[in-house]
Amino acid sequence: MTKGIKIATIGGGSSYTPELVEGFIKRYDEFPLSELWLVDIEEGKEKLEIVGNFAKRMIEKAGLPIDVHLTLDRREALKDADFVTTQFRVGGLSARAKDERIPVKYGVLGQETNGPGGLFKGLRTIPVILEITKEMEELCPDAWLINFTNPAGMVTEAVLRYSNIDRVVGLCNVPIGMEMGIAKLLDVDHSRIHIDFAGLNHMVYGLDVYLDGVSVKGEVLQKLADPENSSFVKNIDGIGWEPEFTQALDALTCPYHMYYYKSKEMLDKTIESSKAEGTRAEVVQALEKDLFELYKDENLNIKPPQLEERGGAYYSDAAVRLITSIYNDKRDIQPVNTMNRGAIASIPDESAVEISCVITKGGPVPLAVGDLPVAARGLVQQIKSFERISAEAAVTGDYNKAVLALTINPLTPSDTIAKQVIDEMMEAHKEHLPQFFQEKVTVNK
Ligand code: G6P
Repeated sequence: MTKGIKIATIGGGSSYTPELVEGFIKRYDEFPLSELWLVDIEEGKEKLEIVGNFAKRMIEKAGLPIDVHLTLDRREALKDADFVTTQFRVGGLSARAKDERIPVKYGVLGQETNGPGGLFKGLRTIPVILEITKEMEELCPDAWLINFTNPAGMVTEAVLRYSNIDRVVGLCNVPIGMEMGIAKLLDVDHSRIHIDFAGLNHMVYGLDVYLDGVSVKGEVLQKLADPENSSFVKNIDGIGWEPEFTQALDALTCPYHMYYYKSKEMLDKTIESSKAEGTRAEVVQALEKDLFELYKDENLNIKPPQLEERGGAYYSDAAVRLITSIYNDKRDIQPVNTMNRGAIASIPDESAVEISCVITKGGPVPLAVGDLPVAARGLVQQIKSFERISAEAAVTGDYNKAVLALTINPLTPSDTIAKQVIDEMMEAHKEHLPQFFQEKVTVNK
């Protein structure tokens, strides 16, 4: 008998897991999964049990022969896996709350994946993902690593640069969220919309957008002036774009661009909302509490609609559609994070980019775009440099590199402020940043 398909999901106790399970159920005909291993750490044990038992009920309801295993032993889960999906959060939501709150004291944006928050999430996450890739080399050398852990672009960059794994794909829900949002704006089915994506994670542009193969970019750009239409994710409130700006840029922006092209408004908004309702991490903590209460209900066996209040909606669709296409060598087009290999001229060939790719059994093949619009190039290069230097700091524990990374980030007003923010955040996250408090290592870049 041939071995069935095995998936290991690291951070399996996440409240997002039912999304993923729903995705596997929906696509079972094309992707006959036989073992789903949900892995977590000791601190996440209770959540793992709750969400894992709920996953078992969802699968039972669907009547599918998928075995769900819950474990705290990552090695056992990785052994002979075909796909490894990663969705963990080092330090949990309380670490995210610090990333969001501390920078604001210094007048700098506090956000999960941008500016100082993105840097520190990367510093905590990258050493862990590199441990996982080492274990994969030993226990499942042919497996694909599908990473959703943020900052997904920086994490993919680090895996490409510092691990021996080349079967890695970074995944984000922003592109699929943009497609869904535009389909809604135009009141058409999602399947009729196609966007040519190119850029970086949380900094991706839609170079063109088509309805049934015909460009509707002009019409869509006009609609982005309406605040209601300018964000496609639940975690960011839109502020309408100036039509002169979007028309001249001649490309669709993603919701995260608001932090860069509307820095002042977004900083003010973040300060206001964190005073009124707490940081996004705190809002999400409350949402999670309710979600886990729901998941505990023995009678619940389908994904509850409340999960859609999280910014990561459609993750399952994006993830399972990607895994299914790799498995079946589908050669369809999907936006993912992968090695550039010349697809965007102004980004190094070996760096991670987020771009529309043909998905084959050999992995994503990026569709070359030539280059980004001249107005977008500089910012994208600056963020790529920030990601590279941040990844290097994460691996080496070099404090000066962390200061350098934050100083060159466009959201930071000065090197002195960068250093002050870093000092407070290093102390606050000390237990998850051992590399900065031990003897240093040297790496080849
Ligand atoms: C998005 C991003 C994800 C992020 C999520 C946060 O849309 O693409 O990378 O994890 O929002 O959502 P949350 O509900 O946790 O604020």
